[in-house]
Amino acid sequence: MKIRSPIVSVLGHVDHGKTTLLDFIRGSAIAQKEAGGITQHIGATEIPMEVIENICGDFLKQLDIKETLPGLFFIDTPGHEAFTTLRKRGGALADLAILIVDVNEGFKPQTYEALNILKMCKTPFIVAANKMDKIHGWETYKGLPFLKSYSKQTKSVQEKLDTKVYELVGILHEEGFESERFDRVENFARQISIIPISAKSGEGIAELLTMLMGLAQQYLKEQLQIETDAPAKGTILEVKEETGLGVTVDAVIYDGILKKKDTIVLTTIDKVIKTKIRSLLKPRPLEEMRESKKRFKKVDEVVAAAGIKIVAPNIEDVISGSPLRVATKDFERVKEEILNEIESI
Ligand code: GTP
Ligand code: NA
Ligand code: MG
Repeated sequence: MKIRSPIVSVLGHVDHGKTTLLDFIRGSAIAQKEAGGITQHIGATEIPMEVIENICGDFLKQLDIKETLPGLFFIDTPGHEAFTTLRKRGGALADLAILIVDVNEGFKPQTYEALNILKMCKTPFIVAANKMDKIHGWETYKGLPFLKSYSKQTKSVQEKLDTKVYELVGILHEEGFESERFDRVENFARQISIIPISAKSGEGIAELLTMLMGLAQQYLKEQLQIETDAPAKGTILEVKEETGLGVTVDAVIYDGILKKKDTIVLTTIDKVIKTKIRSLLKPRPLEEMRESKKRFKKVDEVVAAAGIKIVAPNIEDVISGSPLRVATKDFERVKEEILNEIESI
């Protein structure tokens, strides 16, 4: 028995700051390198607990879940309207989510769409009210917790932010959710927390991650227990050709263990196939899976939650978004399980 990292999906309208938020947490600069500044794939990054603790400092003290969680496993999703399927896929994988809204723009079409995905999947979430540094007159204090930075702003700037946050509260209410700024929440089981942040300056991210850990403690204690010897379950993110490796699939493993000696069951356009793994390549912690390129590490096994690149024969026609299972003696049953899962997507 092991406690796995919660899978946390970041969802929201195009350019509201999903990738930039993850860049701040990872200490990377991926958003700046994206073609057209647009995310076009699902991303995946494992964040070890010590990195979370470094950002959160004393805020995590009251929570005991930090002792048991290995970290957080983040899924970055595209916000552009063309990528509804990828948002749904990212939403479906999530144990928890961050709905990110540019606080100056408010709710936009894909914010509503993301909210509906979370509603449908019944995923616990928090709201990040991003880009607060762009509020007129805001003085930036790099990396400072929200409440500290807020207390240093002028009265009129504080009021501007308060007004924008209450606009979000109003819209969430219309959509069927009670919410409040996180420090004014009275009942965490009934109200959604809104955390004002700047993904660019890091202000508020300490509280954002702390609230996320609080959600994990409140909702996920049992859901995250996994049998480390159970055969892996996962979802295919992408099928791609890699120089020197041939065709590979990138997958997120959300349950059990995947071993190099395993034969896996995957789905192509017209059939369910069995294939023997040739190698398992794991991105390093803090590395975005789709950016990792050659910096993968060969491993003999991988335990959920994790991103993994798999090299195996005959996987050219595997479908993105389809399930991954380990082949057991009863192939027909695994096949049936997969077909049932595909039907429910
Ligand atoms: P898609 O994945 O394409 O939907 O976009 P995204 O939500 O990942 O947004 P992205 O991180 O690409 O950020 C869009 C732009 O907003 C970039 O130019 C960022 O630098 C900028 N940005 C993001 N967060 C902040 C913030 O907190 N403050 C300011 N001033 N700019 C920000
Ligand atoms: Na963008
Ligand atoms: Mg992005």
